[in-house]
Amino acid sequence: MTDHRRVGLIGDPVEHSLSPAFQQPAFDALGLDVRYELWPTPLAMLPSRLDDLRAGRARGANVTVPHKEAAFAAMDDVSDLARRAGAVNTIVPRDGRLYGDNTDIYGFIVPLRERGVRFAALDAIVLGAGGAARGIVVALLDAGVRRVHVVNRTADRAERLAAALADERVVPAPSSAAIALAPSAGLLINATSLGWDGQELPVDRGVFAALPSTSIAYDLTYRETPFLRAARDAGRASIDGLSMLVHQGARSFELWTGQPAPVEVMWKAAVAARAARGG
Ligand code: ATR
Repeated sequence: MTDHRRVGLIGDPVEHSLSPAFQQPAFDALGLDVRYELWPTPLAMLPSRLDDLRAGRARGANVTVPHKEAAFAAMDDVSDLARRAGAVNTIVPRDGRLYGDNTDIYGFIVPLRERGVRFAALDAIVLGAGGAARGIVVALLDAGVRRVHVVNRTADRAERLAAALADERVVPAPSSAAIALAPSAGLLINATSLGWDGQELPVDRGVFAALPSTSIAYDLTYRETPFLRAARDAGRASIDGLSMLVHQGARSFELWTGQPAPVEVMWKAAVAARAARGG
């Protein structure tokens, strides 16, 4: 018998996560008797966490840094998007097996669709070539992007990412190429691990001004970052990671419950939780 009353977040660390702050109100809004818990999990504990899930001791789980790739490798079944991303952020136990999906990919695309981005005519620059960047590139390919330039400090890592995805629309480049690529890029994404707690930019400041005036700069972090500030200073539109966070969570909620997620409830709770932490 599966214990349907528990869902948890597997990661290390997890204490800072906003997920409980908007997932719990969603379960409550639908009158479901479910608690969204934090499950801090050092790597050595990951197998036993997954065994618990397989044994039905919870309804499902989210997975965050640094376990998305390790969780992917441990799944019995995965979605096509999770397979292409090589990473799982949502787990659903089914009849003693673990199904893994990657709802980050869906969440990333939502705010772009809301802004009416036409992917077939879009050239994007993705900064970074790690696990996060791979998921973003898969999302853009799946949305029908015309071209994705993967720009990374370490050029051969960008080349390895392009080779792994084996799609001619993915073009690797070193950081020095960004300024020449910028004038035809409708979207510039920060998928490096440079977040809000520093002054460093992942790319030369001049790149922002070289983007077309209609371009969008998108950071996966849900707080204000030097990257987003630089984009706005150059007069470019910007998107932070809060919408992605809420929409990945909404899709995860639907996988666990089989019911439409109360997205407005989740969005309002996430905005309030971010504000309570000083934005
Ligand atoms: P994640 O799983 O979050 O993607 P990762 O695999 O460690 O994390 O990848 C981090 C990415 O951020 C890499 O693309 C890294 O560039 P390198 O491959 O050259 O290391 C990028 N990154 C980290 N610090 C950076 C910095 N100071 N400037 C530019 N890129 C940086």
